[in-house]
Amino acid sequence: MKVNNVPTRTIRPDPDHGSVVIIDQTALPHAYREARLASLEDAAHAIRSMQVRGAPLIGVTAAYGLALALSRRDDDATLDTAIATLAATRPTAVNLRWALARMHARLSDLPAGSRAEAAWHEAAKIADEDAEQCRRIGEHGLALLRPLAEKRGRLDLMTHCNAGWLATVDHGTALAPIYAAFDKGIEVRVWVSETRPRNQGLLTAWELKQHGVPFTLIADNAAGLLLARGDVDAVIVGADRIAANGDVANKIGTYLKALAAREAGVPFYVAAPRSTIDFACADGNAIPIEERNGDELRVVQGVDTAGSPGSVRQIPADAAVANPAFDVTPARLVSAIITERGCCPASGDGLLTLSLYPENSHA
Ligand code: MRU
Repeated sequence: MKVNNVPTRTIRPDPDHGSVVIIDQTALPHAYREARLASLEDAAHAIRSMQVRGAPLIGVTAAYGLALALSRRDDDATLDTAIATLAATRPTAVNLRWALARMHARLSDLPAGSRAEAAWHEAAKIADEDAEQCRRIGEHGLALLRPLAEKRGRLDLMTHCNAGWLATVDHGTALAPIYAAFDKGIEVRVWVSETRPRNQGLLTAWELKQHGVPFTLIADNAAGLLLARGDVDAVIVGADRIAANGDVANKIGTYLKALAAREAGVPFYVAAPRSTIDFACADGNAIPIEERNGDELRVVQGVDTAGSPGSVRQIPADAAVANPAFDVTPARLVSAIITERGCCPASGDGLLTLSLYPENSHA
């Protein structure tokens, strides 16, 4: 996708300088800033602090983090410690563990001395595949949305959090079909929910604006009214982990939107690549939910009227706060899952019997 008309990816390797360049998403939407990761610690910090975020991008960053670690030393102990360090950064998005398992399988049997180069190569492959998968999610999602657009003459969609290109390497998951529809000349408008407390909706607003897609920002609590009023043709969100039965973990607040969409008879779609589906996880109860620091609620970040970054405390530091970062939407509330291999019902049979993932039928 483009930033100020320049084709840009969220992460790019610079192996000659032993580093990786990312977009620092903590500066957005107020400033566009890049950051350079030069070590395993930098990569782990970038994931933990949400300089990079979004399930697919977290996985790709972890893969490059491993390449950074192995560029210094590439013995077994370094490989195992680096994997453990990266795996501990964030618990819910399964793409992180998926990427680390793939890297381990590719690297562990290689002789010392050859692992670093192989790691850079494999991480780049994961990144390229992610971009291509998201592009295909866009095509399959567009096929699903087109009849709605033809019936209505335009599309009013609602999304939550940021599941756009900023959350992946390129194109995005939930936003990929929206970009595909817009690029085909379909009149699209997007309701973007703020997504308290980290306000990832502001990232969605930023990237939609970069692409010229019309959007309207709403407070999270406005979603129910808009859905009930008939202002939304479909809700489309991403996922951090999809269990084998089709239950979906995504950003906190997703479940409420799914409930309101069901009540209003509005389709609720989840877009995600294969790396987000955890066939080893029986159902949503087994998905670990990240609990983040309460200061994300107690203190609001932003810029002042002069544009200088700052923060405002809204409740004393000792106020009790709960800050679960994700929730689980039961499969029964999901109208379809959109993957790079096509669309399927959100159910165990849906994921398996449509032959989308035949290799997992015995998992
Ligand atoms: O906490 P975040 O910002 O990493 O959470 C991101 C989400 O919940 C996204 O919706 C999800 O990862 C899908 S990204 C394509």
